[in-house]
Amino acid sequence: MTIASAPGKVILFGEHAVVSGVAALGAAIDLRVVAKVEDAPGKLEIEVPNLNLNVKGFALDALKKEILSTKICEDAFQATKYVSTVLQKFDVRNVKVVVESEIPPSSGLGSSASVVVASLASINFHLGLGLSIDELAKEAYKIEKEVQQGLGSPTDTALATYGGYQMVREKAESIELPELKLIVGYTGVPHNTRLEVEKVQNFRESCPQIVDPIFQAMGEISRSSLNCIREQKLNKLGELMNANHGLLEALGVGTKELSELVYASRGAGNARGAKLTGAGGGGCMVAIPSPEYDGVIKAMTSIVQAGGKAFLVTTGCEGVKIEH
Ligand code: MEV
Repeated sequence: MTIASAPGKVILFGEHAVVSGVAALGAAIDLRVVAKVEDAPGKLEIEVPNLNLNVKGFALDALKKEILSTKICEDAFQATKYVSTVLQKFDVRNVKVVVESEIPPSSGLGSSASVVVASLASINFHLGLGLSIDELAKEAYKIEKEVQQGLGSPTDTALATYGGYQMVREKAESIELPELKLIVGYTGVPHNTRLEVEKVQNFRESCPQIVDPIFQAMGEISRSSLNCIREQKLNKLGELMNANHGLLEALGVGTKELSELVYASRGAGNARGAKLTGAGGGGCMVAIPSPEYDGVIKAMTSIVQAGGKAFLVTTGCEGVKIEH
């Protein structure tokens, strides 16, 4: 059996702008997807028993086109699409792939990219396909986009593959930066990345004179953030997050639930700054807790009181790795 794992991510600055080639900064986080591959002669099974949800999950036999589970969970079903595309692409047979995730699906934390990267890495190792890390990142990006049938940047797949921090323009570039402790607030509202990206890109097409300056401002924020993280100027970093959140609102990807968590964390939670993260339209926000001794608890409590789920994450974590 081969076990590989890949991290989830937060986009710190520049989501959506990055789809048009403007700089964005993303960070891998310490929530992971694990993909196990084992030999299964005559079979091709995919099982997604747990996607951080209290549901049964989903399993199928891709050769016999037979559904093996009795209760179908939509999110787990979606995850199997990514895995089956990986298997098809490399004409894989005679294996069973089991995928488990700590990342809430459709939440903006990169679960689909991590599912693709972890399962591809596990298959690559188990079957000796010989893909290098760069080839793995490239293939994962192609597969994610193929399943989503939409536009998108390589941010999520690069973060799942290389980990750490990635500055993305057209290509992803690893940047050495110290870790951050951030609070993630999940609205519990799933989102559809493809629809949010399409919405913003359509807005850009109809009003480039409005949207392009917003994208340029986001690019400036991404670049300015590097020094703030390097020198741990976290109040300034918080200001940049607030500014980036306002720009994302202007693009139309904010929601009432996201704003409630953002303002609760900045208000009662005393966070240094907060913004939505990822495509928006639901999903997650991220906040920098205040430096007080109870800063983390305060920010998390405020998010929970505003109706969200809160968790503490560390940024800059290791990329894809073979566990066994
Ligand atoms: C999704 O995590 C971030 C977006 O910028 C889309 C992309 O980069 O592919 C909204």
